[in-house]
Amino acid sequence: MTGDELRALFLEFFEGKGHKIIPGSSLIPQDDPTLLLTSAGMVQIKPYFLGELEPPSRRLASCQKCFRTTDIERVGDTSHLTFFEMLGNFSVGDYFKKETIAWAWEFITQHLGMPEDRLWASIFLDDDDAFNYWLDTGMPADKILRFGEEDNFWGPAGDSGPCGPDSEIFYDLGEEVGCGKPSCAPNCGCDRFVEIGTLVFMQFNQDKNGNRTPLPKPSIDTGMGIERNAAVVQGKTSVYETDLFVPLLDCVSRLSGKKYGTDNEIDSAMRVVTEHSRGITFLIGDGVMPSNEGRGYVLRRLLRRAALFGRRLGLDRPFLKEIAEITIRQMEHVYPELKQRQDFILNIIEMEETRFGETLNSGLELIENIMATPSIKSTKIIPGEDVFRLYDTYGFPVELTSEIGASRGFTVDLEGFDREMDKQRQRAKAVQKFGSAGMVKNGVNNIVDIMTTPFVGYSGTKQRTEILSMLVNGDSVRSIAQGQEAGIILAETPFYGEMGGR
Ligand code: SER
Repeated sequence: MTGDELRALFLEFFEGKGHKIIPGSSLIPQDDPTLLLTSAGMVQIKPYFLGELEPPSRRLASCQKCFRTTDIERVGDTSHLTFFEMLGNFSVGDYFKKETIAWAWEFITQHLGMPEDRLWASIFLDDDDAFNYWLDTGMPADKILRFGEEDNFWGPAGDSGPCGPDSEIFYDLGEEVGCGKPSCAPNCGCDRFVEIGTLVFMQFNQDKNGNRTPLPKPSIDTGMGIERNAAVVQGKTSVYETDLFVPLLDCVSRLSGKKYGTDNEIDSAMRVVTEHSRGITFLIGDGVMPSNEGRGYVLRRLLRRAALFGRRLGLDRPFLKEIAEITIRQMEHVYPELKQRQDFILNIIEMEETRFGETLNSGLELIENIMATPSIKSTKIIPGEDVFRLYDTYGFPVELTSEIGASRGFTVDLEGFDREMDKQRQRAKAVQKFGSAGMVKNGVNNIVDIMTTPFVGYSGTKQRTEILSMLVNGDSVRSIAQGQEAGIILAETPFYGEMGGR
């Protein structure tokens, strides 16, 4: 069964159970300041759960593009992804636990054909209803495990919103795949039990302080990652061996001349490059642009990681565009926006990767110079200050500096680097305080009636205006003497204010 077939089968199955199929939404959440990126199928369902909007039907199902920043560092293993597709069925105050569990079981065993004896379930501690509905499916009691909030309570997505106890479904890949411990079971942490689905029993709206109030009606939110389920039905132990990833991995292999499956480190680098290239393509396709903050930074970080891991495979010229092209070709029938924005996506990738390549090259030159400094050449230790400068100014990860150093017999002063990082954090904290605590000698301190200075810089960079107030040491003054330092507050300003002092 291909990934495409799996996606279609899921939607058909739930359509058959009276669900309205709705299109997935953008990776950039609409009107949702609590989230950086769409991280689950339920994101667009939130206003329905909260009773803020009337749903087009009480039963909905979708295939949703998702992006999870929490897993970036884990990418490279066999199952964690930043970008993935989530299949979900939702009940907005309609059916609840009984149907959800029965239908998940029916779909997985009868339509995906997963053998019953490979399946396990986990439930929230005291959720006896869920326990009994699992028993009804035929699941033996000893394969229904109970866990606390950490494992079996889902949400909210972001800092507030709908949440509730959940039940997870696991597939046992077999003893030979895992840690081999007799105690190995779902949530062990090894690769043996793959979580293939989550059924959330949405019951609460949680506020920013963690207070929970009941939702208008108990509701359902389920999620099944296509990639992991495709791996199971295709008899693979890794998502990268499914038809969803093989063409991309082949492309990385062709570009780098490296074979997948021969060396652990090479394999892991190939997986990172493959996964990140796919994620980058979808992010730009939905309008995310590289930048130093927010979702733009997520994109930039992903692209840089992909380029760096590419170097480990010997790819030192821009190459990400080529993997993006394959991604677009492979996914455009499901996500036509990729094809529509193809030129734009490829251009942005190429520009950003080229720019990073130049940064990387200047950084490499700098490392050469550092290593050639006589005092450093003799100790063979790259000082923490230099490692930090490479990191801070050139975006050079410490591990890269270490690796380059090691290849020439140098070590890096990691403690010194950590000290510099600490200093940086202190500086950042001071800057944050700057704006609010009146640390600027001549900044606003006691003046509360002037809130915002109108910014006129969009129409011109010169402005004739009035001085509203003058400040010395944070206090308003009527006059200042020649030579005295002071701050002034203007009626309008063409200066663009970003943060305190800038
Ligand atoms: N919201 C749950 C999840 O993301 C189920 O869809 O796992």
